[in-house]
Amino acid sequence: MPKAELHLHIEGTLEPSLAFALAERNGVVLPFATEEELRAAYSFTDLQSFLDLYYALMAVLRTEDDFADLADAYLARARRQGVRHAEIFFDPQAHTARGVPVGTVVDGLTRALDAAPRRHGITTRLIMCFLRDEGPEAALATFESARPYLDRIAAVGLDSAEVGHPPAAFREVYRRAREAGLKCVAHAGEEGPPAYVWEALDVLGVDRVDHGVRSMEDPELVARLAADQVPLTVCPLSNLRLRVVDRLADHPLPAMLEAGLLVTVNSDDPAYFGGYVDDNFTAVRDALGLDAETLRTLARNSFRASFLDEETRARYL
Ligand code: ADE
Ligand code: ZN
Repeated sequence: MPKAELHLHIEGTLEPSLAFALAERNGVVLPFATEEELRAAYSFTDLQSFLDLYYALMAVLRTEDDFADLADAYLARARRQGVRHAEIFFDPQAHTARGVPVGTVVDGLTRALDAAPRRHGITTRLIMCFLRDEGPEAALATFESARPYLDRIAAVGLDSAEVGHPPAAFREVYRRAREAGLKCVAHAGEEGPPAYVWEALDVLGVDRVDHGVRSMEDPELVARLAADQVPLTVCPLSNLRLRVVDRLADHPLPAMLEAGLLVTVNSDDPAYFGGYVDDNFTAVRDALGLDAETLRTLARNSFRASFLDEETRARYL
């Protein structure tokens, strides 16, 4: 089924085999002897336990070629999962902190993304995320250092450790992003409370909410999201692996659809969470008993919620 993927961290597509290949190429020593040993570390207890490994493994990403190879590998897999359009997050601060210039990251990623329509039949957008646990001043500095590349960036986002880092602190960098003509998204309501979703909407003015599953705890918020048809990029296998839900059968996805929310299904960090986007569709179908019509609605929603222009979007609906 053709679909768009709207919540995908490119660094979260780093498969163990590519991590070891890049470690070898760049002379980086990983704290794991084998791919099996690395995979054994993928038993997470919460978001932070995942983020610790996610940031550590990025040590292998150093050159423009590394970022191009990473993105091309994702696009090839995504196409086999029915993806026709992908809006891809990257975390510049996770690379600049290690001495990799933001230009190296953007040049590498856009080399693969520019080739994607011919090579894989996939159109793309790039979304630059700020690491919320690094604070608003670091986000502002990151945004200013990325100004030369904004013509290749469609939107800004906000990710990393959520609890204790509410969206409102990032008001100014979102104002500048919007002023520069960018779209705005933010992770909110993954581990954090509904109040963070309200702030993402009312203070940051986001066009979409990433995750947002905890919105279901606040009926007024659900009514607002439904009335405005604010897209929510939900990531079921991520929620399971990071213990946002205990069992996939407990996932709020059916209740979200029932409430009239514009929900999409996405893979988040597929190399870490046991599946790419179609694997997420299959998992919710099986665990939640979603019928074919509901799955088609989810796929249609992914295009409705995308940043594709109206005319291109209409061709998928
Ligand atoms: N960075 C990568 N994946 C993330 C997630 N699920 N939540 C917050 N930050 C992330
Ligand atoms: Zn995410």
